[in-house]
Formats: sequence, C-alpha cells, structure tokens
Amino acid sequence: MDLFHLAGRNVLVTGAASGIGRATAILLSQCGCIVILFDNNKEGLDETKSLCLHGSAYTYTIDLTDSVAIHEVIIQVVQNVGKLHGLVHCAGIPYISPLKTITKEHCDKVYQINTYAAMVLAKEFASKKVYAGECGSIVFISSVYGLVGSAANVGYAMSKGAIIAITKSLAIELANKAIRVNCIAPGFIKTAMKAEVDEKMSDGYDERLNALHPLGMGNPEDIANGIVYLLSDMSKWVTGITLSIDGGFTAQ
Ligand code: NAI
Repeated sequence: MDLFHLAGRNVLVTGAASGIGRATAILLSQCGCIVILFDNNKEGLDETKSLCLHGSAYTYTIDLTDSVAIHEVIIQVVQNVGKLHGLVHCAGIPYISPLKTITKEHCDKVYQINTYAAMVLAKEFASKKVYAGECGSIVFISSVYGLVGSAANVGYAMSKGAIIAITKSLAIELANKAIRVNCIAPGFIKTAMKAEVDEKMSDGYDERLNALHPLGMGNPEDIANGIVYLLSDMSKWVTGITLSIDGGFTAQ
C-alpha cells in the first residue's frame, strides 16, 4: 500500500552507508522511491544498496566536505536518474571534547560535514537544473544536543544548533518554490556513531544514557519513520520545524 504516496520520487540520502541514513534508504525503497545514496564509505554503500530490495538504488562514493564534488556528482545524478524531489542529509560525525581540549581544526571538520554540507546540498537541490519542481522536501538531522546542553559537547552542539537555524531560514526562503525544509532532533540511537562515542566513556555510561530516555534508547528505524513523514505529502503543511524523536529525552 502506497500510504505515503512516495512511489516514483527521487530522493537523495547522505550518510547512507550506516545507521540512520541506511535505515532511511531501506524504508524509502520500501515506499517505492528511487534512492540516490551518498557516503564516503563505498563498502557500506554497497551493503545498503543490497538491502534496498523494493526500488532502484544508485550509489555515489563522495566526501561531502568537498562542495565542488557535491556539485559535480549531483549533475551526474540528474543525468543518470533524473531531477530530485527529496533530500535527506544524515551524514555526520560526533565530537566529544571538554572546552580545555577543543580545537578550531576539529570544530571546522565537524562543522564542514554536519552543517556546511547541509547548506551546500540544499543549494544544489533547490537549483532549477536539479529540483523536480514539485513535492520538494528537505530533511536535516540535528540532535537533542541542538536543543539542550551537555558537558564536553560544544563542538558537536554548535554544529547541530546551527542546523535548526538553517532549517527555519531555508523554510522561509524556499517556500515559494514549494520546497519544505524541516529537521529532526534525535535522542540517542544505536548506531556506529553511538558505538564510537561509547568507547570514549567510562563504565556505566550506557545505563546513564538509557535513564535519560523514558522510552529507552532508539533505533535507526525510529528516525527513518519521521523522515518518511517529513518527505511525504502527509506533512505538506509542515515547514521550518524541528521534530524531536527522542524517547522523551527533552520532555523532562
Ligand atoms: P553513523 O556513523 O552510523 O553514520 C554516519 C554516516 O556518515 C557514515 O556512513 C559515514 O561514513 C558518513 N560520513 C561521515 N563523514 C562523511 C563525509 N565527509 N562524507 C561522506 N559521508 C560521510 O551515524 P548515525 O548515528 O546514523 O548518524 C546520522 C546523523 O544523525 C548524524 O548527523 C548524527 O549527528 C545524527 N545523530 C545521531 C545520533 C545517535 O545517537 N546515533 C543522535 C542524534 C543525532
């Protein structure tokens, strides 16, 4: 059943080699979308493609901190697949560091992929040569840490807080092109990124984290469900929002 009326739409998903991006690619493919998958991890992309059994999937290995490469690859995508209806930017990296050890170089690196790439991708998506001209929807991924504070997290938090601000400004700017722009602020999700953060933490970290989520920690599919809603016409009057999907983390 095509409940979400997404069948046949072309949707670009970044960070598709793992975690939330992979779950999103699989769910969109189940909805009948043609998914265009970007990541710098070729092996992971190939595995995601093999899991997208219900629709067509195209993979592109790309470093999303390279804005020239983004432009060139998106032109190729339009030639190979056609113009785009949707864009989801899931690619991202964490940065755990107390203020005393934080560096500008590392903040720049995090900002380049988590934040600046979102803006570059949106710019390409909204151009006449790329956007299909109808049913336009962009979904960015922020974090609970774009909304609330935590220690040793300034570098990551600024990259995710900025996503919320970009979402609102672009929602206004792109409304006259019928492109909606929204973001999701996930709580902790069991992915490779979370495993990377876990390694740096002391014993009992997982239990403490779990206690912060009244419904327990989430799975990538919990975020993919929200992304499908925001891409679909079910949310056709929704733009500029930050949708918290966090098991109750920010309700406290
Ligand atoms: P993940 O580590 O499973 O996947 C991230 C993907 O981004 C990877 O496939 C990686 O190869 C790709 N990537 C990283 N740098 C790249 C680059 N320069 N060029 C191309 N691809 C690149 O992470 P996860 O958990 O799926 O995270 C997805 C998004 O959700 C991120 O923006 C993250 O900040 C956000 N998020 C994750 C949470 C969690 O608990 N896992 C919580 C809140 C937000």
